[in-house]
Amino acid sequence: MTSHDRWILRTENTTYAVALATEGPWAELTAWGPHGAETGPSPLDWSGRTHFITPADAAPAEYIPYGLRPFTGADLVAQRPGEERGVWWTFSPEQTETTDDTLRLVFDDEVLGLRVALCYEAVPGSDVILRWSELTCTGEDELRLERFDSAAVNVPVTAGARLTFLTGQWAQEFQRTELELTRGRFEMASTQAVPGHAYAPWLAVQDAAHPADGKTPTYGVALEWSGNWHITTDAEPGGAVRIRAGRLPHEGAVRLAAGATLTTPRLACAFSPEGIDGLARVWHRYERHLTGDRMNRTRKVLYNSWEATGFDVEAGSQLELAGIAAGLGAELFVVDDGWFPGRHDDTGGLGDWYPDPAAFPQGFDHFIGEIRSLGMDFGIWVEPEAISPKSALHSEHPEWVYRVEGRPATLVRNQLLLDLGREDVQDFVITTLDRLLTDHAISYLKWDMNRPPTERGRPGGGPVEKQDLDAAHVAGYLRVLDHLRAHHPNVTVEGCAGGGARIEHATIARTDVVWPSDNTAPLDRLAIQFGYLLAHAPHTMSSWVTDAPGVFDPRPRSLGFRFVNAMAGVLGIGADIRTWSPEQRTEAARWIARYKEIRDVIHHGEIHLLNTPADATCGIQYEEPGGGRIAVTAWNTGRLDGAPLVPGRAARLRLRGIDPAARYRDAASGTEYRGAHLLHSGVPFPWTDRYDAELTVLTRL
Ligand code: GLA
Repeated sequence: MTSHDRWILRTENTTYAVALATEGPWAELTAWGPHGAETGPSPLDWSGRTHFITPADAAPAEYIPYGLRPFTGADLVAQRPGEERGVWWTFSPEQTETTDDTLRLVFDDEVLGLRVALCYEAVPGSDVILRWSELTCTGEDELRLERFDSAAVNVPVTAGARLTFLTGQWAQEFQRTELELTRGRFEMASTQAVPGHAYAPWLAVQDAAHPADGKTPTYGVALEWSGNWHITTDAEPGGAVRIRAGRLPHEGAVRLAAGATLTTPRLACAFSPEGIDGLARVWHRYERHLTGDRMNRTRKVLYNSWEATGFDVEAGSQLELAGIAAGLGAELFVVDDGWFPGRHDDTGGLGDWYPDPAAFPQGFDHFIGEIRSLGMDFGIWVEPEAISPKSALHSEHPEWVYRVEGRPATLVRNQLLLDLGREDVQDFVITTLDRLLTDHAISYLKWDMNRPPTERGRPGGGPVEKQDLDAAHVAGYLRVLDHLRAHHPNVTVEGCAGGGARIEHATIARTDVVWPSDNTAPLDRLAIQFGYLLAHAPHTMSSWVTDAPGVFDPRPRSLGFRFVNAMAGVLGIGADIRTWSPEQRTEAARWIARYKEIRDVIHHGEIHLLNTPADATCGIQYEEPGGGRIAVTAWNTGRLDGAPLVPGRAARLRLRGIDPAARYRDAASGTEYRGAHLLHSGVPFPWTDRYDAELTVLTRL
């Protein structure tokens, strides 16, 4: 597996090979691709001739510090406070460790007193390699780290990069976007204490000369960090494409005390020879691995009353909704924002996490009992990091809020943010959630977060340059989520941040589902979900059927379209079902029953994205492990004027990756197909003005 200066990590289908450079003390990527890619001369080999830059600047260097790589982008910038910036390290072969699945390359700068371990781990059963760095202050003086990325990733492309990324804003998250980067820098980042709505901490890279779809080798990275981050891609003038990714500390730099070790967040690096769609499957498998045993837990059909009643939460209307929801087949009833005192609008209440006696006159437990007697589980919404200025909590603990002494506090959504990095705040949140979850029969928690920290300071918290508020907040958030997992293992947790602003691997690993966007309008949601599914697995994707009109795309769509859309992930209902006609309710019950039959296929299956929402017909193919069943969710995003016009032909979606010789039956229509037909001609969808979505289930004969 290793020679003295070359190390090879293998995942199920890929190889990642690293060698020590001959020109200096750094490691270089020599291969990343399918097994066997490491044989032959490295495609990243360069001439060795440099003018005006150093060899390290031109080399496909793995993690390398400023000092050694002064001009083209370094991953680590360190100094003793007040002294020159730069690290000049040497390789420490005796500290370097390797196993079949791991590698730890160690470099030391004895003058500065810094040891850096470049850590690699191949994730079993996946095509993901995790990379991170461990920085230890080995001297007697503390160090100042101005940049301490997790990893630098060289991408073996030759004609510049096509970057695919997921961008947007509130209500428009996860928009798939492409950019050709042949020279220059492209940076995505967030300083909002959460990954943010603007960019997902996720990037896919292909050779710009190859087609985006089809069997194009595709590389991806995703950062496991719930706070401030950046992913920066450089297409260097010499042709190299190199990604740096890591944290952005709120204070601009962090201090590393003598003897202390800072471990960076992990950067997951993925490869697929099958394009963006294949890369999505790699990420899905990895997220199933992160979910672990909780993959075996059936994700229940939820009803959430937020879009029906808003802040007007009171037992009577909630029970009316619950009765109808149970009749439709919902298995879980969640009361969203508004169940606690002072929460009649968004100006009050946050922090005082007690059921509002006025809303539940017979008591909260009586109310929960009524919901449960309908055969449903019960859940609530919380926003534990948030605080309303007029809450009781704020008058008791104004010091718990992020603030800068002498500066006015900005209100965002009329609220402030607690400094969850403080241990007393974490303890308050844990005690509060423990109380709610033990005093009441609550088995579902939607954890929301609706504002970024402004005036982010901690008066009395010691010298600012020694603080690391962003990392402390993330640690507090993860501590509470870990506590919930350990002490309330039967409670299902939904992650939310004003829609999809906090979705990354640390959150995915500690929640059961996440809420990708507040936009539930049918065509808008479809585009959001197609983007979301490039990075994240269907079993994590909470999705509701609502009455919402289009926000960005106002074209009307049927109830069936909304159901097929929501069942492409974890189905929920958020509509005001009191207003639904008997026919609509019958149709809804039918969809829910069908979903229950195939949700295992949706949540555990391998997916292929068939076209995109920009095409008139698009769909998602889910193949059950073992191939026994295939579910296809299909949508007509095109005209609803009866097209295809009579006499027209049905739209078709060609399936992918199935056995051409296999035989399948569509039980609903009784039609039998050969795999070859499904691959070559596809499943027919004879859309009409009213028939604009379908769920087709094919059983292998
Ligand atoms: C955020 C969430 C919504 C809803 C509201 C409640 O916007 O994303 O789903 O919970 O808060 O205030």
